[in-house]
Parts: sequence; structure tokens; C-alpha cells
Amino acid sequence: MKNLLYSTNYGKLLVGDSIEISKKYLNRFYKGKFQLIITSPPFPLNTKKTYGNLQGKEYRDWFESLAPIFSDLLTDNGSLVIEIGNAWEFNRPVQSVLHLEALMGLVNHPTANLRLIQEFIAYNPSRLPSPAMWVTVNRLRAVDSYTHIWWLAKSDYPKADNTKVLRPYSKGMQQLLKRGSYNSGTRPSQHSISEKGFLKDHGGSISHNLFELEPIDEDRDVRLPHNVLSFSNTNSNDFFLKQCRERGIKSHPARIQSGLISFFTNFLTDEGDLILDPFAGSNTSGFVAEKLERKWIGIELDENYARQSMIRFEDPTLDTKIKINDNFISQLEGK
Ligand SMILES: C[S@@+](CC[C@H](N)C(=O)[O-])C[C@H]1O[C@@H](n2cnc3c(N)ncnc32)[C@H](O)[C@@H]1O
Repeated sequence: MKNLLYSTNYGKLLVGDSIEISKKYLNRFYKGKFQLIITSPPFPLNTKKTYGNLQGKEYRDWFESLAPIFSDLLTDNGSLVIEIGNAWEFNRPVQSVLHLEALMGLVNHPTANLRLIQEFIAYNPSRLPSPAMWVTVNRLRAVDSYTHIWWLAKSDYPKADNTKVLRPYSKGMQQLLKRGSYNSGTRPSQHSISEKGFLKDHGGSISHNLFELEPIDEDRDVRLPHNVLSFSNTNSNDFFLKQCRERGIKSHPARIQSGLISFFTNFLTDEGDLILDPFAGSNTSGFVAEKLERKWIGIELDENYARQSMIRFEDPTLDTKIKINDNFISQLEGK
């Protein structure tokens, strides 16, 4: 196959347009097979050249056209997880609602049968102030500091298990479990707390739909789910970034936090399930899937990004072999 750049023990990376590849290839061999489609799609930029009003509509229509394609590829109880940030109107201190229109396009699509299962927010306290024009040059707006994560599915009951994505207990809760007694009774909120209700150790507390990607207050307990914690601690200086630096490669500018991918991978899939990232970029999702022993397919339009993603699989903590496809037809001169 000429689009296949490389494969690993669990997955393969294809280079090209994801709509075209989905229609021509995935739809033939993988219809109804993906347990999870997880991706951060390209986003409309708010410069006029790239996205004026018309292009805004074009973006919305393009986004909507993904709905039936993804829906066909999902298993009946599969999930579609999309991470997307906020955008701003060109030259105005006004937030765009394009992403909301895009979401409405997905859930209102007449045949795709998708619904919003739950929205998550990924709050990043250390995000650089943006939009700079309205936050630092003119001090008119607050820092735009979170992205949305939409979890969609074809059924009201996609496969999900929140016991697989627990948060470490707070110090207070750990003490309480040790002490073995609790101040039971009715709270001002009218919640009635039983004597033993809070004393069972479930291994952690139930995750919230807000991720605080770095602790706001150093002294406070970090309350991210275990999966996010174990992946995100190394995120900024992990193997991939170090290698890119050493080799003089400019790493993908919009990499997703691997902890977010690991959270949803654990939450919504089991080992051996198949995962798709149709806008793979540096292939964070393929890397996480490989680590968590899920099968994966990634699609990336930009061959340079696709090539740099191979570095991830040289990570010595991964027990995998990378196989470059001899029949791959490169679009880059001299490759
Ligand atoms: C936000 S980035 C994804 C980053 C990725 N999550 C990571 O961690 O590196 C979106 C990616 O989609 C790619 N892309 C844009 N249009 C595409 C298309 N039609 N088909 C496949 N990939 C596309 C871009 O080149 C870009 O790398």
C-alpha cells in the first residue's frame, strides 16, 4: 500500500487525507471495527487569509462531513473523542462560535446518529497568554486557558468504565480510610451520609470531567486520574522531544498531552481494541495505544510530521519494532 509509511507491533501510520483514506481504504477493511476514534482535528486559524467568514463555513461543512464517515467506522458501542480549543474572530476581541457550530454539525447530522455523551474541559494553567492582542497588548480579555474534549457515540451506552480511570484519594480521604470512622448524618445540602458509606477503599476517587493539566497550587494535592499523571509527568521532556531536539527536528507544534489520550484509552477501551486517530500529527495517540497494548491506525496529511512520529517508537520503554514500508510513495523530494 503506497500510503503506509510504517507499522509497529500494534499499529500503522498512513500518510494522506483522512477523508479520502477512510472512504477508499478504512471503509472497505475496517467498517464498524474501531472501538475508539480519538483526535485533535486541524483548527480554523483566526487570520483572515486562512479563515474569513466563507472559510469558516467551509470549515463547518468539512467538519460535519466527518460525522457519517467516523460513525461508519465505529463499533456499535464505540466512542469518538475530539479535543478542540477556542478560536477568536479576526481582529476582534470576540470569541468565535465556530467550534460549537462544528459540534452541532456532528450531533445534528441526519444519518450519523451521533450524540454528545459528555464534555470534558482540559484546563492548562501554564498556557501562554492568548489571544495576545486582547490579553497582553490590550488588557481587555482573560487568558484563554482550556480546550474542550467532546465524547460522542452512536449509542447512549458506549463501552466505558470509570473504575479504570480513578484519581488518587486526597490526603484527607486517605486519613479517613485509615481512621475508619466518619462524621455521618445529614449535611446542610440535605445529602445524608451513612456511617460506613465513605469508608470503603475503592482504590481512588471517581474522575471529574475537568482536567487541570498542571497543578495551580504546588502545595495542593494533584487530583488528576492515575493515567493522566503517569503519562503527563514526563510529557515536556520525554524521549520524543529530546530526540527531536538532538536531531535538529522541529517537533509538531500542537502535540496533545499524552495523559489525556491515556485517560480515554483506559476509560473507553480494553487491551486488543482498535483505535483510530485520523489527524495523527506526531502520533501521540499511536504511541499511547502501543504502550497500552491497543491496536491502532493513524492518518497524517503532512509527511514530515508522519516521519517525525517514527521517533516515538524508538523509545526504549516501548517493546516494539518499527517496520518502514518499502512501497511507500513519498511526496517529499529525494526521500
Ligand atoms: C492538531 S494536529 C494533531 C496533533 C496530534 N494530536 C499530536 O499529538 O501530535 C492536527 C493534524 O492534522 C493534520 N491534518 C490536517 N488536515 C488533515 C487531513 N485532511 N487528513 C489528515 N491529517 C490532516 C495536520 O497536518 C496536523 O498535523
